[in-house]
Amino acid sequence: MVDQFLPTQSDSCHAIRGAILDFSDDPFFLPAEQVTRYWSDGLLVICQGCVAACGPYQRLRTAWPDIPLTDYSGKLVTPGLIDTHIHYPQTAMIASHGEQLLEWLERYTFPTERKFADANYAAEVAELFLDELLKNGTTTALVFAAVFPQSVEAFFAAAAARNLRMISGKVMMDCRAPAYLCDTVQSSYADSKALIQRWHGRGRLLYAVTPRFAGTSSQAQLQMAARLLEEFPDVYLHTHLSENLREVAWIQSLFPDRASYLDVYDYAGLVGEKSVFAHGIHLSAQEWQRLSQARAAVSFCPTSNLFLGSGLFNLHQAKRLDRPVKVGLGTDIGAGTSFSLLQTSNEAYKVAQLQGQNLSALQALFLATLGGARALSLEDKIGSFDVGKEADFIVLDPQATPLLTLRNAGGLPADLTGLADVLFALLMMGDDRAIAATYIMGQPLHPKPDRPAP
Ligand code: GUN
Ligand code: ZN
Repeated sequence: MVDQFLPTQSDSCHAIRGAILDFSDDPFFLPAEQVTRYWSDGLLVICQGCVAACGPYQRLRTAWPDIPLTDYSGKLVTPGLIDTHIHYPQTAMIASHGEQLLEWLERYTFPTERKFADANYAAEVAELFLDELLKNGTTTALVFAAVFPQSVEAFFAAAAARNLRMISGKVMMDCRAPAYLCDTVQSSYADSKALIQRWHGRGRLLYAVTPRFAGTSSQAQLQMAARLLEEFPDVYLHTHLSENLREVAWIQSLFPDRASYLDVYDYAGLVGEKSVFAHGIHLSAQEWQRLSQARAAVSFCPTSNLFLGSGLFNLHQAKRLDRPVKVGLGTDIGAGTSFSLLQTSNEAYKVAQLQGQNLSALQALFLATLGGARALSLEDKIGSFDVGKEADFIVLDPQATPLLTLRNAGGLPADLTGLADVLFALLMMGDDRAIAATYIMGQPLHPKPDRPAP
């Protein structure tokens, strides 16, 4: 029996026909056949912006004979992609040459983020950034803003105008950084609190308390961040963790009484179920254990980790059955080199290969959809086509380029093995050109409605 509910106003319903793919559970822990839902000819019914039914076309069309239908036969419909770590103020500095993390921050990042004191500039970049996300099929992201509250205002206002489910927050940094980019414990508390009260839970927007990393926050500031989490228990904590070996040694020297990098955050009270830590490349067994116990999440950012020479994220450590750690994919723009989570999956596959690990196409897509939703504690709202979830989805073209047409010459197969092969090629070779459409709450936002669909 296919899940469906009958809304009272079926005139606000519409449907999408195409090959449809999503996950009911984690293919790292259960056989892919058990958790993958794939209909080579499927129907996704959307009512009032949410999923009303999803299943085989023939059966569902009979139940919904009259609603308007958009036909994407030959294309693959999946839940919208979820980016669990990205910096919108770093959009303009993508592909900055020649440094590893700490020098890269000094040389490129801090001067770039300084520009976000200007609300107009911030608004301009926020628009371009959101265009880029949607063009790449990313419908939800956990986003670093800059230290200036107006940079958060600009981002949330732009996301609200598009009805996007986005999480963001003001960067906290009160030391060991240029004065022009530093706040204080008091100003950071007051500004963050005002932003939480104004934006958290407004429409689809959510707030993340965002200390940049232990390198640029005093102990007092980290403790103040924890106080905010106590006052607002459903906001997120978003920061960086164990990205680069020199960084890890530096943090140890700054906090000599703490057992590890993670312990710096833990001691302050920042490690919990809604904490998302970017990178986590150089973690000890104890740190993995603690992340699992706290049900905290890690964002795997392969293009960034390779670009900055940070190291190889150990996905198998996160996906240990005896102490699982939630993990999603992050682009980490501007250290990451692509907005595309397809390209990010491509690099994730290679990072796994370099460690003798094997990432399947279905596992990679899980990380970019339901896995990301779980990492962000949003699995009740997004990440799959379960009835009642918000209808953020994308349409992938397996033959988006001449080379993809050659590689995926047979189109979309009916069976899961065949599909996994087509999907793998899409992940390795695809980018924004493979995103035929992006829908938000059932509405097409990319390509822009005034432009014809490809
Ligand atoms: N660690 C502290 N700040 C940053 C940042 O902006 N990007 C990355 N990749 N790592 C960081
Ligand atoms: Zn980052």
